Amino acid sequence: MIHAPDPHPFSIPASGIRPSVAVIGAGCIGLAIAWRLASAGCRVDLFERGQAGRGATHAAGGMLAACVETEPGEDGLLPLTRASQALWPDFARDLEAASGMAVDLRTEGTMVIALNADDAAKVRFLHGFQRDLGLPVEWLSGAEVRRREPFLQPGVAGALFCAGDHQVDNRKVAAALQRAALAAGARLHEQCGEVALAVEGGRAVGVRVAATLHRADRVVLAAGAWSAGVPGLPPAAKPPVRPVKGQMVCLRMDARLPLLRHVVWTPGTYLIPRLDGRLLIGATTEERGFDDRLTAGGQFALLEGAWRALPGIAELPIEEAWAGFRPGSRDDAPILGESGIPGLIHATGHHRNGILLTPVTADGIARLVLTGGTDPLLRPFAADRFLAKGAAA
Ligand code: GLY
Repeated sequence: MIHAPDPHPFSIPASGIRPSVAVIGAGCIGLAIAWRLASAGCRVDLFERGQAGRGATHAAGGMLAACVETEPGEDGLLPLTRASQALWPDFARDLEAASGMAVDLRTEGTMVIALNADDAAKVRFLHGFQRDLGLPVEWLSGAEVRRREPFLQPGVAGALFCAGDHQVDNRKVAAALQRAALAAGARLHEQCGEVALAVEGGRAVGVRVAATLHRADRVVLAAGAWSAGVPGLPPAAKPPVRPVKGQMVCLRMDARLPLLRHVVWTPGTYLIPRLDGRLLIGATTEERGFDDRLTAGGQFALLEGAWRALPGIAELPIEEAWAGFRPGSRDDAPILGESGIPGLIHATGHHRNGILLTPVTADGIARLVLTGGTDPLLRPFAADRFLAKGAAA
């Protein structure tokens, strides 16, 4: 049985060295690490091939769903996801205070609904599995689901409900992190094009952008789905990360009469209602490399799945549609901590959980840089787990 660990709010060691740090990648993970380290007094430079916060961070749904997304075989990730989930309320509060910007943390909770008897058997199985892990999930009858969400399809048979699986507006989080990191003294280098790792004598010594070498004591690789392709990475330090494409579509609800309040999972699709009236519908899971084109089949599957659960969406205008790339690792778990070469730290491979895992990753990596110590929570996720199985990265 896995219980939610007590959150350990980040505290800066009062003394000790303050290494200079170069972070490759300015998504939520890189920005949050930069914020923590700059706040601790490190000189931090963030290097982004394009625009900060525009990769998976921009494409994500912002679900903080440590419980309902846990399926058989994924329980090894639970201590990390539950710890990060527990950190989120303080993280959001600190971030809003540091940036002066809202991140729209919504706490109504998440439902996995069953639309018919077949669905109900599957969702009840999931409920039993998660309950046996000690997760705070409950079963709601069809009548109770309709009472809480009256616009759902009237035949809804029941739902698994988790009050603690919240959501946040990931795009607002990225904007707030950028402002907070810069306010703490981090320097952001955008539109760099190619950002290469610089290695001398077998040690990472900084990053190279065009002809310029930016020296740093430590380099953090937080380039999401692009992490394995960073030039200059020695084979031993190349994380086994690939892009896993996800298409999404966003509708506009009437903010005075929103069709939905909870995050709702329905077979093949999830719906995320934002405070500003946007309704996000996601997401496909496709192995297409970096092909970011929207497809008729992908968009149709999302809209059809959402419409079966919430027929009222038929009247809503489409506001936006996009595709992004989850950084999927070989075992779908993140790659965190010391890499195969001195000076280089991995913070990548967060797959479906990048936003959820931002606080625990930022705190753990910042501690590693500041103290040299690996948080026990992060230890199982070091890159050497792939080598131990005889599978070189
Ligand atoms: N965490 C949701 C997704 O990856 O689609």
